[in-house]
Amino acid sequence: MESELLKLQAEAEESLQQITDVTQLEAFRVKYLGRKGGLLTGIMRQLKTVPAEDRPRLGQLANEVKQAVENAFEKQKEQLASQFSATAASKVDLSLPGRFLPFGKLHPVTQVMEEICSIFEGLGFAVAEGPDVETDYYNFEALNIPQHHPARDMHDTFYVTDSILLRTHTSPMQARIMEQQEPPLRYIAPGKVYRCDSDITHTPMFHQVEGFLVDRDVSFADLKGVLTSFTRTMFERELALRFRPSFFPFTEPSAEVDIACVICEGSGCRVCKRSGWLEILGAGLIDPEVLKMVGYDPDRFSGFAFGLGVERIAMLKYGIDDIRLYYENDLRFLSQF
Ligand code: PHE
Repeated sequence: MESELLKLQAEAEESLQQITDVTQLEAFRVKYLGRKGGLLTGIMRQLKTVPAEDRPRLGQLANEVKQAVENAFEKQKEQLASQFSATAASKVDLSLPGRFLPFGKLHPVTQVMEEICSIFEGLGFAVAEGPDVETDYYNFEALNIPQHHPARDMHDTFYVTDSILLRTHTSPMQARIMEQQEPPLRYIAPGKVYRCDSDITHTPMFHQVEGFLVDRDVSFADLKGVLTSFTRTMFERELALRFRPSFFPFTEPSAEVDIACVICEGSGCRVCKRSGWLEILGAGLIDPEVLKMVGYDPDRFSGFAFGLGVERIAMLKYGIDDIRLYYENDLRFLSQF
């Protein structure tokens, strides 16, 4: 047994020298030092069968051999590890510049919405946001659109329950803010709105910016002045504005506002359908009924309101002819802005 032990030690030390990678190292560990079936473990087990007087001496020798093999194994392991990190280090070129991830950008609709807001903020309007999931009361009733009013048909509403819906416009913010505060008020309310509609000029979700002002002696001339100033800044030139008589239950009088076509400047083209004009918003003086519902005295206060479509303005500003491009998330499109 003694010679067997010494032979095993010599053999183990010899084969350790040949080892060049971790897989071989692991195979070595299993072969010699493995708890089950390892050669050294096997010999140690045989100690039980040797004569009692030899047992202490052989036991001690066996332990020494095991210790020696284990030490040699650890040493080889460390050496392999240091060799590995040395080669890895030589492959890393610390002088190379780092890799940069491309920067994300704001969506063009967000960019235009922020631009619209900052223009109105420059005119003294404060910004307020309200809920997308709205009650029938604020979306319709408080805006002078009672149950069964034909104007409800225009809105293609997504209903959540009979009295809760996805807001079809940002106008509910007029009522929400007015019932909380006293005039004078000057607010814009940007946000998402929803209508059950989809084609090249409509998406089921789109963005509006509502604006309104309430004070003493507010007239249609004030509305015209604010909108003229806004379009000049937004489109960076003096485009003519046209007010067409229209109807909204919450404004009186009401108008739809066109700007001279940004493409042909009024001479007529495909984008403006040869008319020379492009519709950009709805507006009017706030209906006295709406003022009464929030507790204002219409004989003391008057106001104007307008609601503009953000996608529409962005399309005109950038010459985009299909609204759906905004929502396909094609990076080749989005990264141009
Ligand atoms: N809320 C109207 C719409 O979405 C637009 C509008 C706002 C009209 C304010 C007048 C005043 O169609």
